[in-house]
Amino acid sequence: MASYLKLDHVDKSFRRGAVETEVLKDINLDIARGEIVSMIGHSGCGKSTLLNLIAGLANVSAGAVLLEEREVNEPGPERAVVFQNHSLLPWLTVYENVALSVNKVFSGVKSRAERHAWIMHNLDLVQMAHAKDKRPAEISGGMKQRVGIARALSMQPKILLLDEPFGALDALTRARLQDSVMQIHASLKNTMIMITHDVDEAVLLSDRIVMMTNGPSATIGEVLTVRLERPRKRLELVADSTYIAAREAVLKFLYERHRLEAA
Ligand SMILES: Nc1ncnc2c1ncn2[C@@H]1O[C@H](COP(=O)(O)OP(=O)(O)OP(=O)(O)O)[C@@H](O)[C@H]1O
Ligand SMILES: [Mg+2]
Repeated sequence: MASYLKLDHVDKSFRRGAVETEVLKDINLDIARGEIVSMIGHSGCGKSTLLNLIAGLANVSAGAVLLEEREVNEPGPERAVVFQNHSLLPWLTVYENVALSVNKVFSGVKSRAERHAWIMHNLDLVQMAHAKDKRPAEISGGMKQRVGIARALSMQPKILLLDEPFGALDALTRARLQDSVMQIHASLKNTMIMITHDVDEAVLLSDRIVMMTNGPSATIGEVLTVRLERPRKRLELVADSTYIAAREAVLKFLYERHRLEAA
């Protein structure tokens, strides 16, 4: 069976002068269409590097990233990225920030009226339509992340790539956004790859959790399938044995088998 996204023997090294550091070594992963996959691993192991390779923001040193059997080697709107620190343009309104992407991707395809409707539709998806005329400085961090997600979704990406999207948010805002992501996924069935440091977030959202070993030469240590029905409700999961076992498996991986030794 052909996979939707395939990481095929991916290596990545960075060279500084004569020194070459191998960050990622022999990464192999197949992701199915519609799957939510989380990546978890200690700081510096190479998670963002891997996401950048999938985004086409950096190139592999060996191996290949394949989306629908086509090699990825440059950025494209079919792989939209949401970064931890929302990257909205401060001089544009919420609406204009989303419009920028929509106009880039759909200017030849959708009419002006259709583009307007599509921008509003995506702002509605993240419950931000009411703030469409505000500028980033006038809205909260959680709201900015919502707009970042709307902007990414508005490109109708094949894959949504999220690099610690809720890392800078307080726990309650984070929980609300996690719920939003689950709702969006339930209606759009989009494929998502999300980096997180939060074990509960990984278990709550993911179909599979990819656990990375420590660098240098980090690779995939284990992949855990989270066999929990959707829709998932956080309060019900607290006492669910499958949830508890998944959480424990990830914690054991991170803090027993691949503990980050103090330098
Ligand atoms: N452009 C670059 N040039 C040189 N080295 C880099 C570059 N980008 C990343 N690295 C190195 O690659 C390693 C992995 O970095 P990366 O940002 O992917 O880690 P991470 O797992 O995302 O960490 P964190 O959890 O802290 O975000 C680090 O040692 C980093 O210094
Ligand atoms: Mg990172």
